[in-house]
Parts: sequence; C-alpha cells; structure tokens
Amino acid sequence: KRVAILISGGGSNMVSLVDSMVGDHPARPCLVLSNDAEAGGLKKAAARGIPTAAVDHRPFKGDRAAFEAELLKPLEQAQPDIICLAGFMRVLTGDFVSRFQGRMLNIHPSLLPKFKGLNTHARAIEAGETEHGCSVHEVTAALDDGPILGQARIRIEAGDSAESLAAKVLIWEHKLYPAVLRRYANGDRTPVLLP
Ligand code: GRF
Repeated sequence: KRVAILISGGGSNMVSLVDSMVGDHPARPCLVLSNDAEAGGLKKAAARGIPTAAVDHRPFKGDRAAFEAELLKPLEQAQPDIICLAGFMRVLTGDFVSRFQGRMLNIHPSLLPKFKGLNTHARAIEAGETEHGCSVHEVTAALDDGPILGQARIRIEAGDSAESLAAKVLIWEHKLYPAVLRRYANGDRTPVLLP
C-alpha cells in the first residue's frame, strides 16, 4: 500500500508514521506534501529518502478549490492508496475529500467528538475535563468528524497547562497513528484504543 502524508509544520506525526512503515508492514510512504515550503517536516522526509512536494496555500487566498487543484497534482502523481493528514492545518473542501473518501485519515488532539477544531487542550482544561487525548478518524466533508479508527486516553492532572497537556497528548499521537495505520492498511477497521 502507498501512503501519502500531508503536513503543515514539524511533521513529528509524519516521522512516527514513516518510521513505523518497515519490515512486514503492508504500507510504505510514497510522498510527503505540505502547504508550506518551509515546513520542517519536509527536510525530515527528504532525509528519509521520501519524495516531497509543497504547494503554498497563500497565493490562492480564499480560493480553496484553486489551491486544492494544485495540491492534487503531486498527490495524483504519487498514486497513493491511503492519505494521512498529520498536523495538516488547512480545511479541505467536500470535493477534495470525496475524491479520497474511505482512504483518508486524520489525527486530531482531542477525544472526538469532543473539542473539534483548534485549541483543544486549553478548551479541555477550561471545561474541567479529567480526561483528554487524541483521535484518528476517517476524513469526511465535516471538520474533525467521520468514523473513529482509534483513540488514546490520558488523565488531565492538576496543574496541567495547555502546553504540558499538548506535550503529553503528542507522545500518544505518535503511538496511536502508526497503530491505526497498520491496522487500516491491513483492511482492519477495528478501533485502536490506548493505553
Ligand atoms: C500538533 O499540535 C498535533 O497535536 C496535531 O498537529 C500538530 C503538529 O503535529 N496533530 P506535527 O508535529 O506536525 O505532526
């Protein structure tokens, strides 16, 4: 199975996914694509010998369709079987998603369906949650929605800040996403529940 990974920044989730696709894993990375040519993850991917591409979203301003038409070019060239959004910070239109529905995953730093959108850690603390975590889901047209393929659950400790919580959740993202991808690439949709 060929896996394309979309990033916007440091790509720590991308690195975890790439480093997991070895040995008898049924998938291999075929492209790392970013909406920011300066994304630190592009260098990490190139250092691992993975083809990379960048399509800057800024010249397209609000014209999402035009941006996505450009984004599609390297993506279609790579012929991925699965697309993993990993710290990808652009909202994708329903048209784009429908092209890959059923084979596009995303990781989101909350226990979906709670706290869709941004600033999830601060919002969880603010809401007085005792638990938090991250979720991997199939991407559908609705933001941070779609069937849950995995979750990692952690406790929010007294004194946790949004920063300390984000750091704890990120560790679990790096465990969850590779576990979900391996199962998904094997055609198994049973949710991964950690710890
Ligand atoms: C992190 O905040 C993570 O929680 C979310 O995307 C952000 C960057 O992740 N999934 P990465 O290091 O670029 O994978």
